[in-house]
Amino acid sequence: LLQDEICAQRIVTAKEKLGKRAIILAHHYQRADVYRHADLTGDSLKLSYLAAQTDADFLIFCGVHFMAEVADILSSAEQTVILPDLSAGCSMADMANLTKVERAWRELAEVLDPDEMVTPVTYINSSADLKAFCGQHGGIVCTSSNAVKVLQWAFDRREKVLFFPDQHLGRWSGYKLGLSQDAMQVWDFDEPMGGLTPEQIKKAKILLWKGHCSVHQMFQPQHIIRFRNQYPDGLVISHPECSFEVCNASDFVGSTEYIINTIREAEPGTRWLVGTELNLVGRIAEEFKAEGKIIQFMSPMVCMCSTMARIDPQHLAWSLENLVEGNVVNQISVPESQADLAKLTLERMLAISK
Ligand code: 13P
Ligand code: SF4
Repeated sequence: LLQDEICAQRIVTAKEKLGKRAIILAHHYQRADVYRHADLTGDSLKLSYLAAQTDADFLIFCGVHFMAEVADILSSAEQTVILPDLSAGCSMADMANLTKVERAWRELAEVLDPDEMVTPVTYINSSADLKAFCGQHGGIVCTSSNAVKVLQWAFDRREKVLFFPDQHLGRWSGYKLGLSQDAMQVWDFDEPMGGLTPEQIKKAKILLWKGHCSVHQMFQPQHIIRFRNQYPDGLVISHPECSFEVCNASDFVGSTEYIINTIREAEPGTRWLVGTELNLVGRIAEEFKAEGKIIQFMSPMVCMCSTMARIDPQHLAWSLENLVEGNVVNQISVPESQADLAKLTLERMLAISK
């Protein structure tokens, strides 16, 4: 405990020395002992806007790798983005890579006529080279808060979409646009032709990359059934990375920012079952207790984003103290060859999200 206090004090001191030159951005899943030091917090979409707007020299990004890449792409060339621990990745983002997406692209081009070809849509939870791929092929990026709008944008241009890496966000968003389950086929990237027949590919409106989030896959419909049996007036809210069955059984579905705001604006005394990462749920359970709101975590298991949790106070203190000394450690720098095309797709997304 004393160690924790010393580390927190190191962060505060280094931040004071850096003043306005450094800004700490944190995603809502950050652990409490990191989140408390943040200047700015948000979901992936909000953090993208914030990174594009800040004029600080150093952006210390307490999130995962793809988020820091986005901050680097959207900030100016003079600004420096730091990820306090470079091993803070996203297991879902790792489920798609350029080699596999290019293979899928070639296979689809064999089956589809050029005028039937897909628009590539990548969830922001993906590496910068995949965003650049989308930029190169008339595609776009989405986040959990704008996926429906982004898909609509894609369907206004072409009939088909290849959506990666999260099948669940793609399926839920397609459903929200009125697509039937038949119009959404899973693309198994480990199988030739995604494991689909040419007829299935031709009929599909969305090809859903077979990726998922290991945290959100832990939430199950029976958790919701049990809660509703016990508390018939209770409300259920989930992140769209949960399975279709969980989203469909929920009263509300949306991004982390949406989840927080929805519960904040709810009537005092309401009871909530929340299907998203544990740090976020634990924090809002504490925050809204005073209003008599009871907030329960959806799963009996501990579902934490373990990679996000690698950003700990020790790494944060270390990266800030290095900056004070004039050393930049753990910089995230997207190569220019990817950054320009990735920026194009991100700006396309930001323009239609407003
Ligand atoms: P949000 O954009 O909703 O914060 O989601 C990011 C994420 O990785 C959820 O697992
Ligand atoms: Fe990636 Fe899942 Fe962690 Fe979100 S919760 S950052 S999708 S591993």
